[in-house]
Amino acid sequence: MLRVSTEEKLKKCITGACKMVLVKSIRMGDTVLVTGGTGYIGSHTVVELQQKGYEVIIIDNLSNSYENVVDSIEKITGIRPGFEQIDLCDKLSLDDFFNKHQNITSAIHFAALKAVGESVEKPLLYYYNNITGLINLLICMIKYKVNNLVFSSSCTVYGQPEILPVSEKSPVLKPLSPYGNTKQIAEEIITDTSGKSKIKGILLRYFNPIGAHSSALIGELPIGVPNNLVPFITQTAIGKRECLNVFGNDYNTPDGTCIRDYIHVVDIAKAHVIALERLLSEKNESGIEIFNLGTGKGNSVLEIINTYQKVTCNKLNYRIVPRRPGDIEKIYADTALANNVLGWKAEKTLEDMILSAWNWELSLLNN
Ligand code: UD1
Repeated sequence: MLRVSTEEKLKKCITGACKMVLVKSIRMGDTVLVTGGTGYIGSHTVVELQQKGYEVIIIDNLSNSYENVVDSIEKITGIRPGFEQIDLCDKLSLDDFFNKHQNITSAIHFAALKAVGESVEKPLLYYYNNITGLINLLICMIKYKVNNLVFSSSCTVYGQPEILPVSEKSPVLKPLSPYGNTKQIAEEIITDTSGKSKIKGILLRYFNPIGAHSSALIGELPIGVPNNLVPFITQTAIGKRECLNVFGNDYNTPDGTCIRDYIHVVDIAKAHVIALERLLSEKNESGIEIFNLGTGKGNSVLEIINTYQKVTCNKLNYRIVPRRPGDIEKIYADTALANNVLGWKAEKTLEDMILSAWNWELSLLNN
């Protein structure tokens, strides 16, 4: 299949074929591979990359996402990203892909399984998928001289930190689940590989990404019953679920419910573009850099529910139930390093996050 260059696509858009293009500059030659690019955070990142003028190729095995996300991305940006359905565990297909696309200069790696409970039930599935996929990706990156990697990590690596807010210097604690362990192991694999190759990496430790794109064309689409709080809230409010269970109100927090650092997915997506630019412009200070991505502010479960009720004027059906095993009491980010060194700061408010998540849930009614 002939790929149309970013420049040609832009010309088409400028002549009026597409209305919503916000592209500021053309980054010729900087083709970015986004693994897991049809997923929740991946799709938002593809939008931000394209709006900065990067050419993007997505690979995704569609195990937890849908190919029509590519259409939605095109509707938002006016540019269709490249897409190939490939499983990172399929080494031969991955090698073929890299061989075919020698214009790729960097990768942002999201593709992984991420359900904590499922990972406890099926540890080997998680280790096999998340670790094999990463290793295959790194092998191809070395072989095809793709030297820049932004990796999707998680604040789960901190466990329950003793000191809050938690900074990147805090110790990495024993993970509570195989999923969490795959994030820790992946960070180590990338760090060790970087030490012995030309690969430079930025590891981004997300706190709790929520919300959706302002267009309501892309958002979080959990398959089955959601594990995470905000999709559960919006699905309860829309009538897909009967009642939200609040897991415990006897924690040592002001209202007794757990505290997390909720951050808008678009802010997270923008951080990936900034991280990538840092690598491409060789501003990184070492082979591997690590940044927390949070707002620096903690909110309780009840505060999230109250914000939902306030911004939507809907009443939410919820009840307090016993604690969920494995939940930590409170965590929120020290964002100084991301603010001062990466030059990124979360901009969106909690109200923006919840309202965008609700608009996304509403948009699903029409699909
Ligand atoms: C979880 C994972 C984390 C992962 C993140 C993103 C654990 C221990 N951690 O974070 O590793 O990176 O998801 O997918 O699972 N809550 C309710 N009712 C619900 C759902 C959640 O009260 O139906 C509460 C939880 O107890 C928690 C808060 O809401 O206090 C946030 O939960 P959730 O959205 O699942 O995220 P985390 O558990 O923080």
